[in-house]
Amino acid sequence: MKGIIFRGLEELVVTSHDIAVWEKLLEKHAPADRVYVSAKNYPDEELFALAQEVAIVVDKPLPDVLRTFGEFLFTYLTHKHREILDQFDGFSSLIMSIDTVIHAEVAKLYHEPNLPEIRCERIDDSHILMFYCSKRKLCFCAEGLIHGAAEYYQMNVNIEHQKCMHQGAAECTLLLSFGEKKHG
Ligand code: HEM
Ligand SMILES: [Zn+2]
Repeated sequence: MKGIIFRGLEELVVTSHDIAVWEKLLEKHAPADRVYVSAKNYPDEELFALAQEVAIVVDKPLPDVLRTFGEFLFTYLTHKHREILDQFDGFSSLIMSIDTVIHAEVAKLYHEPNLPEIRCERIDDSHILMFYCSKRKLCFCAEGLIHGAAEYYQMNVNIEHQKCMHQGAAECTLLLSFGEKKHG
C-alpha cells in the first residue's frame, strides 16, 4: 500500500484526535522511526493493523472505521491530485471512470501501485452496479470513497453491498442509488 494512504490515515487520526494518539499507534504497529513517503510502498498488514487499532481506540467496528477513512481519503487524495477531478462533469461520470481513468492515471504517477479492480455498469440515470475485486478486500473503504465523491458533487448516495468478498464472494457487488441533494 502506498504511503499516501497511510498519510491519509495519519491526517484523519491527528485531526479527529491528536498526534499523540497516532504516535502510539505507530509505536505498536510500525517499525521504529517509520515515516511514510507518499510514493513508496509499505506492507498492507501495517495498514490493516493500524486501522484495527483505530477501531479499538474509537470503539467502533472495523468496517465503520474503514468507511469513515474512505470518505476522508476521497478529499485527501483529490486535494493531492487536483487535476484528476477536472475531467468529470459529475458523480456518475467519475464513478464510471474509476478504473479506466482515475486509477489508470494513478498507475502512471506511482511506481507499482496495488490497485483494486473496479468495473461499473450504468443501469439508468440514478443507478450504477459496481463490481469490486482486490486481494486487500478494502470494499468498506471503497464505500467511503463513494460517499466522499457523492459529498463532493452534493449528491445523496445509498450503497447496497449485495455480495461481499468478506462473505466468500469472488468479488463484491455494490448497487449505488443516487440523486441530487434536495435543498430547503
Ligand atoms: C469513488 C472513487 C474511488 C474508489 C471507489 C476507489 C477505490 C480504491 C480502493 C478501495 C483502494 C484500496 C486498494 C484496494 O482496494 O486494493 C484504492 C487505492 C488507491 N486509490 Fe482509489 N478509489 C477512488 C478514487 C480515487 C481517486 C480520486 C484517487 C486519486 C486522485 C485514487 C487514488 C488511489 C491510490 C493512490 C490508491 C493506493 C494505491 C496503492 O496503495 O498502491 N482513488 N482506491
Ligand atoms: Zn465487500
